[in-house]
Amino acid sequence: MKKLIGLNKIKTAVFISGNGSNLKNLIKFSKKKNSPISINLIISNTLRAKGLKYSKRYKIKKKIIDLDKKKLEKKFLTFLYKNNIKFICLAGYMKILSKNFIKNFKGKIINIHPSLLPKYKGLNTHKKAIENNEKYAGCTVHYVTKQLDSGKIILQQKVRVNRNDTPISLAKKVLKKEHLIYPKAINIIFPNS
Ligand code: GRF
Repeated sequence: MKKLIGLNKIKTAVFISGNGSNLKNLIKFSKKKNSPISINLIISNTLRAKGLKYSKRYKIKKKIIDLDKKKLEKKFLTFLYKNNIKFICLAGYMKILSKNFIKNFKGKIINIHPSLLPKYKGLNTHKKAIENNEKYAGCTVHYVTKQLDSGKIILQQKVRVNRNDTPISLAKKVLKKEHLIYPKAINIIFPNS
């Protein structure tokens, strides 16, 4: 594996709306010598996203725009281009991206979803898995396309659902696996870095 110095890495933006544990995990990954990406921008649609604290902690530029989707995406696009961003990781970003936005970064946006897609697209995945008596739940890293949670799957990881699991306990177990597979999926996408 070739050593990547900061300048050669793929400039990446991470989109968040919440806690940002995946963001933190991706930042740590990006700092490894052999990681193909550098995280240059944190984007959020809300000031309430707790994960924004990582901007200060890791000295990464952030952009928060809390507007209606059309205006917000237009501003984000301008900002992404200005910062020469080539790759986008969604990590708990709670707005659905428009067809037009996705077209501007075709094949360059990935997402982590807390279910074994194609099962349980959208919200409340853990509750649904438990209600359906699933033996396994899990998470999926996939490309983002205009159809919600339906793009090509890059990597998945299963976890066992126990009889006493609640949506909260299951979410915790799955989140741990999310932190494992998100960096792995990025290494799969950029194998020659
Ligand atoms: C994760 O469960 C992710 O799969 C989903 O939103 C959650 C974000 O968690 N898309 P965090 O903000 O990264 O802690």
